[in-house]
Amino acid sequence: MRKHFVLFSFPFLLLSSMLIFYQTTVFRNQLNEENDYTGGPIVPFMKRSLALHYQTCESFLNSLNTTVPVLLIDVDVLKMLDENACNLPTGRPTKIGVDVKYLSATWLLQDSRFEIVYYTNDTEKDFLDFRSEPRKIIPKKFSTCWVENLAVPADIKLFVEFWKRAKFVNCMNLHIPRAGSKVRMPARPSSEVLSRLRDELIENRMFPFLNGGTLLGWYRECSVIPHTLDMDISVFAEDFNLNFVEQMEQNLSDFRIKRKFGMTNDSFELTLAPKTGFKVFIDVFLMYKGVENGSVTHHWVGGVAPDGTKYKYSYPVYDPFCAADLHGHIFWVTCTPNEKIVKEYGQLWYLDHLTSKYSWNSSGKNVKKNGKWTKEQMKMVYKVFKR
Ligand SMILES: *[C@@H]1O[C@H](CO)[C@@H](O)[C@H](O)[C@H]1NC(C)=O
Ligand SMILES: *[C@@H]1O[C@H](CO)[C@@H](O)[C@H](O)[C@H]1NC(C)=O
Ligand SMILES: *[C@@H]1O[C@H](CO)[C@@H](O)[C@H](O)[C@H]1NC(C)=O
Ligand SMILES: *[C@@H]1O[C@H](CO)[C@@H](O)[C@H](O)[C@H]1NC(C)=O
Ligand SMILES: *[C@@H]1O[C@H](CO)[C@@H](O)[C@H](O)[C@H]1NC(C)=O
Ligand SMILES: *[C@@H]1O[C@H](CO)[C@@H](O)[C@H](O)[C@H]1NC(C)=O
Repeated sequence: MRKHFVLFSFPFLLLSSMLIFYQTTVFRNQLNEENDYTGGPIVPFMKRSLALHYQTCESFLNSLNTTVPVLLIDVDVLKMLDENACNLPTGRPTKIGVDVKYLSATWLLQDSRFEIVYYTNDTEKDFLDFRSEPRKIIPKKFSTCWVENLAVPADIKLFVEFWKRAKFVNCMNLHIPRAGSKVRMPARPSSEVLSRLRDELIENRMFPFLNGGTLLGWYRECSVIPHTLDMDISVFAEDFNLNFVEQMEQNLSDFRIKRKFGMTNDSFELTLAPKTGFKVFIDVFLMYKGVENGSVTHHWVGGVAPDGTKYKYSYPVYDPFCAADLHGHIFWVTCTPNEKIVKEYGQLWYLDHLTSKYSWNSSGKNVKKNGKWTKEQMKMVYKVFKR
């Protein structure tokens, strides 16, 4: 039965897409005769052709119906859907994700319509884990539309961003002896709070990545350094969305702002605290491109001392396009953690350095003074909220 479906649907698809190609060609010729592609008449043409393409997208999606639920993960196909332009090369298999609980549906592997990537959807983890080469993980939290048994990510641009950052990187899991020392930052509840902030940032189309001591803790010990006092994440300055700050100011967020330093174009940093759950301070840094002679040679985040002194923490050109598992939560991280960590903490990064003996503005190997805000500017750029 199923085999027949494949045999019949493919020629049909080919035929229908050829038909549509033919029709659009006709429109184009008419346009060429009557207009010369400038001004108004191009708009109705575009609308018409989009409507036609939409039919192809719909019929294409329908042609991917299967006996078990599957997830469309083919980025090229998703991008075409997003543009309502499904002039697909026929015969090319479409990449779909299949939950390992359907491993027994082995006929899928023989189905030439598909390239199958199995994934696990563990209730203890907030990400889907794809058994691809390389291994990929993406947040679970995204909505889909169902076309028969095919789940299509509803926000295609968001899904593409997830996929861009999906490559899994492992941590070192070094044993750090710390007999009897006090745990100020319990790993599980603090990671849980950080994952909630991650989700709020994603809702505002920002893609945060671990930085500073939180990156070091994940990489070195696959956890959170127990004597640290806060967590650190960064967002590229060009992705910054002020709406997120406004939401917090309007009490529409699960986080409140404790400190706000700098300007969004220079040394911007927020310290946030959750309103519910384990109380942990999270520093969110904007990461800036370091441009020298017209090219990006490094990235940096800022810091501000109470006297107005600005600090600059420099990194090699930043590549936060990999994904990590921190106590069951997905976080994006640099794809070259060793390089970034050596730059900040030096060759002996694998030795524990007590937080109480670590100076935020002089211990890092990558920190330099970077000018000073004036007294007048400090009134604007150094805000501490007592709440
Ligand atoms: C899609 O597949 C399911 C499961 O095999 C089936 O019940 C359904 O009728 C199919 N839909 C179409 C339009 O073929
Ligand atoms: C993963 O599992 C959850 C239930 O735990 C379910 O709601 C969700 O749709 C699943 N996602 C995928 C892509 O299979
Ligand atoms: C903020 O919102 C919460 C409910 O989300 C409410 O309980 C609280 O009173 C609000 N606080 C202020 C200061 O408006
Ligand atoms: C940042 O923006 C302010 C105005 O909002 C401007 O005065 C300042 O020069 C800018 N700083 C940098 C580093 O571009
Ligand atoms: C930038 O260009 C100038 C003049 O060509 C040169 O002296 C300087 O070393 C360059 N700086 C960097 C970081 O390449
Ligand atoms: C570092 O910051 C502290 C305040 O947190 C300040 O007292 C000290 O002077 C700063 N050190 C340097 C080297 O700037």
